[in-house]
Amino acid sequence: MTKLSIRDLSLNNKRIFMRVDFNVPLDDGRVMDDTRIRETLPTIEYALRHGARLILASHLGRPKGKPNPKMSLKPVAERLRVLIDDVLRRGENVGFSPDCIGAQAEEMAEKLERGQSLLLENLRFHPEEEANDPEFSRKLAKLCDYYVNDAFGSAHRAHASTEGMTHFVEKRAAGLLMEKELEYLGKALSHPQKPFVAILGGAKVSDKIGVIKHLMGKVDAFIIGGGMAYTFLKAQGKEIGKSLLEADKIDLAKQTLADAKSHNVRLLLPVDHVVADKPEAGARIRHIGEGEPIPADMMALDIGPKTIELFCDEIGGARTIVWNGPMGVFEIEAFAKGTKKIADAVADNGAAVSIVGGGDSVAAVKAAGVADKITHISTGGGASLEFLEGKKLPGVEALSNK
Ligand code: 3PG
Repeated sequence: MTKLSIRDLSLNNKRIFMRVDFNVPLDDGRVMDDTRIRETLPTIEYALRHGARLILASHLGRPKGKPNPKMSLKPVAERLRVLIDDVLRRGENVGFSPDCIGAQAEEMAEKLERGQSLLLENLRFHPEEEANDPEFSRKLAKLCDYYVNDAFGSAHRAHASTEGMTHFVEKRAAGLLMEKELEYLGKALSHPQKPFVAILGGAKVSDKIGVIKHLMGKVDAFIIGGGMAYTFLKAQGKEIGKSLLEADKIDLAKQTLADAKSHNVRLLLPVDHVVADKPEAGARIRHIGEGEPIPADMMALDIGPKTIELFCDEIGGARTIVWNGPMGVFEIEAFAKGTKKIADAVADNGAAVSIVGGGDSVAAVKAAGVADKITHISTGGGASLEFLEGKKLPGVEALSNK
């Protein structure tokens, strides 16, 4: 990597501002999934073991620039205490500052001793965070000697804590999670082992078209499922009933199909479908076989068995797999089979480097119980998508070069 790493910093007795992505789901003040906290632990542990005085900062949710007790990071601090205690026996040393800037935060940061840490309250309780306000950035920078960004999930945001404050800190380094994410995603795009297969799903063509464009010519095959597949099928003149359709994207879908042909890229679409009258548990379900039209009053909500076979065959032969987006409405059991089978197929291909990103596909891999067989599960949803689109991530660009 060309960017400075936390390993390049001399951390001893330095106040380190570490931007993390602790944007985790909360329910009634309880952390429902602590994956993002756990994934950052190696960087936290590294910093504390090397004598850093650690200031952790994150956003949680979208509180629209105002304090909101439902989006407080306090429960995250409690969870962090338990996790740090497990690895370092230093849980009691995790402090919490009720504001991310101001006299109290400054005093708490100043008083930190080597190996102690402090979590700041939600950065987005101040509108200046998302506005990337220079004065607010300066206040955040005042808390530290050096800056570390381990928040890959937020690296596509040019906010004060991911971009603005870096203008006021001498050394800005990537954390270990940030490095790991950039390494896996970067290698997949720059030096993929072939065949390279991209599996894309989810509701909208418009969400994934940037990825398709960037990967066209790099991949050997696209597998397209989920709601977005039906705009492509419509573009091929198929009857799609009341399946999801982006009418204004039909021409784009036609162009993409033509591009795939001219690049010699296989573009696989569903050939049979699980349809229902509505996307609800208990809906009237039917299977629509190959070549059959989807009735006008039905919508496709999952891929059918023939499609599963077709997609799994392609996945089985791949040596690099990137997956983002489910194959159907997998939150409802009746329409979850396709996504689960894809998760199994990706996991079963032990010869391939597999990378899964995006909240829904990550959830599917976990629900299928195969997460430990995936080479890399990205902690970034939007960030991993923008990376796959070939965009530069402001949070990465802002780091010091080696
Ligand atoms: C995420 O969950 O994708 C990141 O934490 C970014 O959150 P945001 O989309 O609210 O900026």
